[in-house]
Amino acid sequence: MMLLTFVVLLTAAVPSALASGTTGTSDSKKLVLGTSADFAPYEFHKVINGKDEIVGFDIAIAKEIAADLGVELVIEDMGFDGLLPALQSGRVDIVISGMTPTEDRKKSIDFSDTYYKSKQVIMVRNEDKDKYPTMAKLENEKIGAQKGSIQETIGQKIPGAKLTSLDKISDIVLQLQTKRINAAIVEDTVAAGYLDDMIGLAPAVPDEEQVAAAIGIRKGNTELLNAVNGTLERLKSENKIEQMVTEASQLMADREVKSPNIFEVFWQYKSFYATGVGYTLLLSALGVIFGVIIGLIICLFRMHDTAILRWIGTAYVEVIRGTPMLVQLMIIYYGLALTFGITFSPLQAGILTLSINSGAYLAEIFRAGIQGVDRGQLEAARSLGMGRAAAMRFIILPQAFKAVLPAIGNEFVTIIKESSIISVIGMVDIMYQASVVKNITYQGMNPFLIAAAIYFVLTFILSKLLGRLERKLSASDRR
Ligand code: ARG
Repeated sequence: MMLLTFVVLLTAAVPSALASGTTGTSDSKKLVLGTSADFAPYEFHKVINGKDEIVGFDIAIAKEIAADLGVELVIEDMGFDGLLPALQSGRVDIVISGMTPTEDRKKSIDFSDTYYKSKQVIMVRNEDKDKYPTMAKLENEKIGAQKGSIQETIGQKIPGAKLTSLDKISDIVLQLQTKRINAAIVEDTVAAGYLDDMIGLAPAVPDEEQVAAAIGIRKGNTELLNAVNGTLERLKSENKIEQMVTEASQLMADREVKSPNIFEVFWQYKSFYATGVGYTLLLSALGVIFGVIIGLIICLFRMHDTAILRWIGTAYVEVIRGTPMLVQLMIIYYGLALTFGITFSPLQAGILTLSINSGAYLAEIFRAGIQGVDRGQLEAARSLGMGRAAAMRFIILPQAFKAVLPAIGNEFVTIIKESSIISVIGMVDIMYQASVVKNITYQGMNPFLIAAAIYFVLTFILSKLLGRLERKLSASDRR
């Protein structure tokens, strides 16, 4: 509990400039918009004057709503399937993401009036165009759709089809380009942005042809719902929405034709990676600090004379080591929020998960170190009149520490690498930024090679530093 409070307090103090785009608690003067910015021209990333911005006609609508309410708009970009839980748990106030108001979704959230209509289409490689004149031809085929979308539901109903569901539309297009899937179900407005020499549309048409988009609002929030409908009403009567769609489509169309090489990608998006490095280091550093504290406590528990404490320590280590960190993260980030209303920002959830996780490994390392010190050392210290605590502090722990330093170093390196998992909840770390760059550049290799290089440099520097410390400590042995 103490640790929890500590993390929350500490991260609350992180300057808001650094945390912008990651803190997602609703505030009366802010309207927090949840969206999955992979859906041009609805919402997508675009580099404007060297800065990454989320644009699109959904965003334009959101801005109008915020302006009508007289509040500031804050955008939270996340996976499409994370939007409903985010809205329900209060992480975001409103969802505008080209979302279709289906009966299923209406069970958990409310929807505004619809503001846009589009059609479902089947995207294929141009060479295969004639292969799919009807939906029946998609049977037993490898197909793709966005996770959590109605297109996924359609795909699931195609007999025998092997469906790959992915977070981002750009990932699906990549799968199509690399022939891992042969067809993808998307919406025509969105498909338009991907059509080129290689990718085209098949004549087959899904049964549920029409799709509409509406704005999602937390159940019972009638005030906001009415305000949103009011703004939509106004925009429609002014013919603003069509205009927004046209503008967004133009923005979408003017993308760079020439594919930049890895150095150009790095140079162009260096500010993205720089932000990522900042967060990765912050996450790992705090994860390590709290991990060490937890590790020490658990280690003391494990070696305590009281059976119940020993049992707690052992249970902690076994449970944490025996479950994937990704699962732990989901429980802390979504589980606690949806079940107990304990809402952590991605940064807080990330630090908690990393420290809880590494605490288990560090506890074992510490224990091995302490138990590795010859018993005679303790006996000698005690017979010289030292108390148990003093003997621990001055005789046992220094020796133990030196012995396990390499193992601790390994654990630190691991934390830096594993922190990349936190990107799945929208933590803007190196990994997350690499995905953003991938989505903007439509490149599958360079953005990740750059991320790999950065992670490598970080861990390499760290292990060199640790090696130095080790040598310094062992130098005193030889004296
Ligand atoms: N209209 C579809 C649905 O509601 C797809 C929406 C996907 N939106 C997005 N921003 N990726 O399921």
